[in-house]
Amino acid sequence: MQGRRLATTDEIIAIVSPDSDEALASLTEWTEERGLGLATVAVGDDIGDVYDESRATLGVTLGGDGTFLEGVKTFSPRDIPQLGVNTGTLAFLARVEPEDLEDALDETLRGRASVDSRQQVHVEAPGVDATGINDVMVQQVPPENPIDRKVTRLDVYADDEYVGEFEGTGLAVSTPTGSTGISLSANGPVHYPVNNHTLQIVPLHTHKLGVRPIVVSPETELRIVTQEQASLLVDGGRAHTILTEGDEITATGADKLAHIVRTSYDDHFFTAITKKLGWDVRDVDVPAAKRREPLSAASKKSITADEETDTVERALTVATEAAKAAGEPLRELHGQVESIDVKTDKSDIVTEADHQADRIITTVIRNEFPNHAVFSEEGARQRGTDSDYTWVIDPLDGTGNFAHGNPNYSISVALVEDGEPVMGVVYVPETDELFSGIAGNGAWRDGDPIETTDRDQLDESMLISGYDPDGTFLSHFYQASRGVRRLGSAALNLCYLASGSADAVWEHDTYPWDIAAGLVIAREAGATLTDQTGDPYEFDFDTDDRTPLLGSNGSLHPALLEHLEDGLPARSQ
Ligand code: IPD
Ligand code: CA
Ligand code: CA
Repeated sequence: MQGRRLATTDEIIAIVSPDSDEALASLTEWTEERGLGLATVAVGDDIGDVYDESRATLGVTLGGDGTFLEGVKTFSPRDIPQLGVNTGTLAFLARVEPEDLEDALDETLRGRASVDSRQQVHVEAPGVDATGINDVMVQQVPPENPIDRKVTRLDVYADDEYVGEFEGTGLAVSTPTGSTGISLSANGPVHYPVNNHTLQIVPLHTHKLGVRPIVVSPETELRIVTQEQASLLVDGGRAHTILTEGDEITATGADKLAHIVRTSYDDHFFTAITKKLGWDVRDVDVPAAKRREPLSAASKKSITADEETDTVERALTVATEAAKAAGEPLRELHGQVESIDVKTDKSDIVTEADHQADRIITTVIRNEFPNHAVFSEEGARQRGTDSDYTWVIDPLDGTGNFAHGNPNYSISVALVEDGEPVMGVVYVPETDELFSGIAGNGAWRDGDPIETTDRDQLDESMLISGYDPDGTFLSHFYQASRGVRRLGSAALNLCYLASGSADAVWEHDTYPWDIAAGLVIAREAGATLTDQTGDPYEFDFDTDDRTPLLGSNGSLHPALLEHLEDGLPARSQ
């Protein structure tokens, strides 16, 4: 999940442990000041009554790691991002201290926090079907008579491959989040728990020298077969059973990831280990330079100064993050569009998609560039105090495709300076491709430079047609070229031209927001862009008029114009 998406949070659900009154009072005040919704539940209570899935919700836990784990159990099945405030004494998971609560939340609501996706482990065994964020422990059952045997033997398989016999007090299958404590006590590896999707098996007090910790992917199915009685514990007892000889446990990566919000106020992981466990390998003080400082008035000022010098570079970063964050709800809603029965609901989903993507993008941009004007197809038409810069946005280009479950749709975000697009980002949520361009600097797909083709024979060329009301372009060029494709997203069409998947693009009439970003990308990749008469294409977002656009690799332009002259309808107004 993109941290930028949290900028549109409108509801907080807090799971509150006893003894967190002070933190709760600060949270209540903070939400009231900002007009955000706040619902609180006690640890162990269901949030079913207070959770409204149509609202953008942030989960907060006030307590220690136990409360945090309850949060994971509650929030992760609903894909709610979660921030842990540590009001307890010892915490690896809840890493924001109560005195930093407001600052950490401010950072989150500005879209500046990041969101880690944490691997969970799913375990099935007789009488147990559970998911844990930390670990699955299989251990010997303590004997009634203390002089009796204290080991257990377990056969372990990975995807049907026999790993071997683990003899000792047992084993732990842990996630990167849960690996820390176990590994420190059992000599296993400590996983750095940041977007790290692995599982590990660590032998506990092994009686065999050759048995080593093993790291596997979350897709691996681990099978553990007991040779005698053993106890099974998930996340320190959140699920528990006693197994008998020959029972089988399967453990594998859970489908649902936990979305953990990380702010610059979090205790760093290694600091947390050092502090909490006295793991004395380094000085506990984090060098100041490594810590992101909160936005003081002075640093806000310096950002404004930077803005002057590298607005466009910064705009590219912000546009990329905003478009990727907006891509998340689009992907989710796109998945639903073809699965619903009632046709009328479909338009609700499309409207919701437009609205959500627009809200995320415009909120992120306003947070970062409060003086810029914002001009979005869906709603925002805001003048800024800095009249040089305007953002031109189409939050969902290719609505027709989207509504039919077709993956050819995109998000288009452009920055216009003094009337000319200077930065463009086109993001394709279904393929996770990101096209970008900066005037005078180049064009890229996923960071790699792109350029147009150099084909100069029309009969060898692949063309893309946008809206072509009476089929003139198609009938004119279909035989003359290798093919004419009609894909359905004008922004994306220009990116295909830019990256060489097409040699030319025709749009009978486009709105400025359809093509603002694509223009920069195509131009920077070497495209020639004109109107239907061959005059340079003039970008104008001050009118709501549609204009025709012919884009090509340059070499083909004369041949295309020649055909266009004797076939196309007059320019529409
Ligand atoms: C449309 C698409 C389509 C183009 C239309 C646009 P929308 O935008 O870009 O490919 O032919 O002219 O209006 O409505 O999906 O944002
Ligand atoms: Ca559009
Ligand atoms: Ca649109």
